[in-house]
Amino acid sequence: MAPDELLERYGPVALVTGASSGIGWGFAEELAERGFDLVLSARRVGRLEQLAEKLKADHGTNSLIIEADLASAEAPAQLLAETAGADIGLVISNAGFGLKGPHQANDPATMTDMIMVNCNAPMQLAHGFIPRLTQRGKGGIVFTSSIEGLMGCPYSSAYSATKALVIALGEGLWGELAGSGVDVLTVCPGATESEAAEKQGIDIAMLTNVMTAREVASIVLDNLANGPTCFPSAHYKASFDQLLALPRRDALAAMAQGMKQGG
Ligand SMILES: NC(=O)c1ccc[n+]([C@@H]2O[C@H](COP(=O)([O-])OP(=O)(O)OC[C@H]3O[C@@H](n4cnc5c(N)ncnc54)[C@H](OP(=O)(O)O)[C@@H]3O)[C@@H](O)[C@H]2O)c1
Repeated sequence: MAPDELLERYGPVALVTGASSGIGWGFAEELAERGFDLVLSARRVGRLEQLAEKLKADHGTNSLIIEADLASAEAPAQLLAETAGADIGLVISNAGFGLKGPHQANDPATMTDMIMVNCNAPMQLAHGFIPRLTQRGKGGIVFTSSIEGLMGCPYSSAYSATKALVIALGEGLWGELAGSGVDVLTVCPGATESEAAEKQGIDIAMLTNVMTAREVASIVLDNLANGPTCFPSAHYKASFDQLLALPRRDALAAMAQGMKQGG
């Protein structure tokens, strides 16, 4: 889609949650380059201010910054209230984090936060934005899930469960909103350059076929109307397709074995 058509259909303003690093930062840069103004949200306001200044200098982008901790039950309503005056046509519900390791070794409170950030926030933001978008008669919602949402992933079990919920949410809403003018796309990235690997104690140099955040964002923006799902990495999609073609027990045993061996 040509930039002016994209802007006409999904602009003039896009909300990006989790914009302070990684894929969210990449979305903000791609959207600014394509002429969107932005609402940038995350907890690290200093990073958002740095991003907003850069986008203003590079593209003349106007950004509204909203500090929000999406682990809080009140945060989605706060975001909805603080964006009431913005003409948002595109909602990128991207904030999220993962937890790796044996399930019993992970902190229970962090697991609760993960459900709030990865699942509750996109669900509640969609609930609040759907009436606004359908009233406009055009727009889009992007959910950042993960390739790990396609199957329970041993040693990433709780995270993959949160991302399975996001895929189900996005698919259901794609069906509900078909014909409304509002496109829904659930993106399932494979390994992507961001802060996520380091935060989970993974050396990104050990991962193969790593995409840049900008590459992922660009593919998503080019495919907003091609839902319900988008797999930016052909490599990771093919790997999971191979696993999904196996009897489930065999696939899960192979994945668990691979993780035990450090893979
Ligand atoms: N990188 C990958 O390989 C990969 C693969 C598949 C899916 N994903 C998904 O991609 C999305 C973006 O992750 P990323 O890889 O770009 O990681 P990242 O660099 O760590 O970025 C995560 C973003 O989420 C925000 N966030 C985390 N907890 C939050 C909270 N409690 N409240 C508000 N914002 C919060 C962070 O902002 P603050 O810390 O400033 O709040 C940050 O902007 C996530 O949903 C992730 O699951 C990533």
